[in-house]
Amino acid sequence: MNILAIGDVVGSVGCRFLRAHLPTLKKLKGVDLVICNGENSADGNGITPVSAEYLFQSGVDVITTGNHAFRRREMYTVFDSCETILRPANFPEGGAPGRGWLVYDMGRIQVGVINLMGVVYMEPLDNPFDAADRILAAGLPKITLVDFHAEATGEKKSLAYYLDGRVSAVFGTHTHVQTADEQILPNGTGYLSDLGMTGPIHSVLGVKPELTIEKMHRHMPVRFDLASDPCEMDCALFTIDDKTGRSLSVERFIIK
Ligand SMILES: [Fe+2]
Ligand SMILES: [Fe+2]
Repeated sequence: MNILAIGDVVGSVGCRFLRAHLPTLKKLKGVDLVICNGENSADGNGITPVSAEYLFQSGVDVITTGNHAFRRREMYTVFDSCETILRPANFPEGGAPGRGWLVYDMGRIQVGVINLMGVVYMEPLDNPFDAADRILAAGLPKITLVDFHAEATGEKKSLAYYLDGRVSAVFGTHTHVQTADEQILPNGTGYLSDLGMTGPIHSVLGVKPELTIEKMHRHMPVRFDLASDPCEMDCALFTIDDKTGRSLSVERFIIK
């Protein structure tokens, strides 16, 4: 089973780039399932019903999110109603709409997807390690992948080792910068600290550099506008043994 994971899609410019390249990539690599982080897919941050639908129409099967999941109010009912859009599972009980994990039924095989958020240099959500334990105790399929939306590589890799042998893969999102540390952990869990992003190359995390320079240099509030083309699409392909659920290989690439 080949599962493609795509890094944070940034704005309509990133969405268009994904649509232009995903179909060919799926054919080329024999992709069975596509998971994509869509937390920044709307222009002006967050995710909207329109940007989510655009990603699905472009060939994405499961959308994960992160700290920008709930920027747009119009999305709250969609989180509740659409089973293939996730938000981090470790939001406190009873507040956030939607769900943090799912089982995707592919007929002959089922695939679990879990979305978690880090708590190091991020909002103090529930402990992601305990949240993962609780979800896995519910009995997820042999093939299960985790999108760990987090800032710190130390936290990401610790969670990956914590789940090694219990899930097929752990990949990070959120930093918008792809890491070069793909590997298979000792007990068969595929790993990459961060997938990267799908968005403008000449940007800072998708944003026009002159705006982030102003923010970083002067520390004054700045409205972040997105940069424009050319774009790249950062992703990783996890090839997973259907019988054991272990990762056989992790291939990382950047489409330009
Ligand atoms: Fe993001
Ligand atoms: Fe994020």
